[in-house]
Amino acid sequence: MATNKRRMAIVGTGHRGTGTWGRDVLETQSDMVELVGLTDLNSGRLAAAAARLPGDPVLSTDLDTMLKQSDPHTLVVCTRDDTHADIIVDALERGIDVITEKPMATTAEDCERILAAEERTGRKVDVAFNYRFAPTSRKLRELLASGRIGTLTEVDFHWYLDTRHGADYFRRWHAYRRHSGSLFVHKATHHFDLLNWWIDSDPDQVYAQGALRRYGRNGTFRSTRCTGCPHAGECDFYFDMHANEWLEDLYEAPSSEDGYVRDACVFREDIDIWDTMTAAIGYANGVQVSYSLNAYMPIEGYHVAFNGTHGRIECRMYEKQAFDAPKGQDEILVLGTDRSVERLVVQHGPGGHFGGDPLLHASLFTPDANDPLSQRAGARAGAASVLTGVAAAMSVDQKRPVKISELSSRFGPDRG
Ligand SMILES: NC(=O)c1ccc[n+]([C@@H]2O[C@H](COP(=O)([O-])OP(=O)(O)OC[C@H]3O[C@@H](n4cnc5c(N)ncnc54)[C@H](O)[C@@H]3O)[C@@H](O)[C@H]2O)c1
Repeated sequence: MATNKRRMAIVGTGHRGTGTWGRDVLETQSDMVELVGLTDLNSGRLAAAAARLPGDPVLSTDLDTMLKQSDPHTLVVCTRDDTHADIIVDALERGIDVITEKPMATTAEDCERILAAEERTGRKVDVAFNYRFAPTSRKLRELLASGRIGTLTEVDFHWYLDTRHGADYFRRWHAYRRHSGSLFVHKATHHFDLLNWWIDSDPDQVYAQGALRRYGRNGTFRSTRCTGCPHAGECDFYFDMHANEWLEDLYEAPSSEDGYVRDACVFREDIDIWDTMTAAIGYANGVQVSYSLNAYMPIEGYHVAFNGTHGRIECRMYEKQAFDAPKGQDEILVLGTDRSVERLVVQHGPGGHFGGDPLLHASLFTPDANDPLSQRAGARAGAASVLTGVAAAMSVDQKRPVKISELSSRFGPDRG
């Protein structure tokens, strides 16, 4: 029976596609959305996902078949990062709108292909920047827009991944630049997007450093994967994926089909991404940013501080640490050069990414949803953050500052 619900199909039925876009969207947005199709190259993972999701979507390992048979309004792209662009362009050409997981793409050329396809077809790409929807990110954007600290001049932004979450990027395809663009693209796309949105300008120039100091060839022993590893007892990064029924179902049995295991050794010698990254970023509006990302810390969370002509905003976001810290909330300090001090406490919301995931879903699937703070991000925003990461990686390789306008004629002075 035909309904007025948005017909959603998903390509890529890993943890993100099946969990955040399948299970979670159908739990919270079922009056707006129905799942009509699922595709994954891995038939075992496709079947495992289908078994966990409600409804009766078209299932196919072939995207063309699935799209023809399910006729979706929206395709949600949850595949490996370097595969996003081909899939997005294909869907737009078929007249299907796209929601893509971050990063939108991994190269400047792929960003351009997507932007051109969007213009050519008149269809729309949304980029799933869920961190924009976290209550603390939103509050920071409101405070900056209010002019409380005068004109924004500088930002210090430091993101820390701990040895559980950070190590996860070294267990799979993320560990190779050809698949993820490095963590400057795969992970920092979130952070660069937040910066672009908070600063409300385009990145202009990036000068970066990167090194691999803890994972990959730094290991003094190694195996192929944690399962069956003879070093399990002595390894700081041993991970028992079999203790997690969800990961076991989605990844372990299906791995016999394509060899893609969820717990590959973090000390593989061919890992070619960095785990220690810093960048100095200049913005078109003159704001200067000092950024870092580290993937082997005893803590998880971030520090951010905004300096303005009339004050400073500070926030320390505690996610995981071995000492007592505020739980489920963040504190923001608003400091005036007149010595005024305001302490604001922001509660996290329910759901993934501190409440960001469900709010992102509601914004995407509620018809004509209000968006006063421009939290919904399109392809241009997707490209701006990818290009910042691509410029950072190029800067590390070439040991020089890289202009964003070297990568795309869409960005540069006067293009914002
Ligand atoms: N926004 C966030 O906070 C967040 C969090 C996690 C992951 N992600 C993003 O979500 C995406 C998926 O992440 P994941 O951890 O679920 O990855 P995953 O590797 O676990 O799952 C990806 C799935 O895509 C399938 N696949 C790969 N190429 C394909 C193709 N061309 N056609 C069809 N299927 C294909 C794989 O077989 C796999 O099942 C990535 O882009 C990742 O960066 C975003």
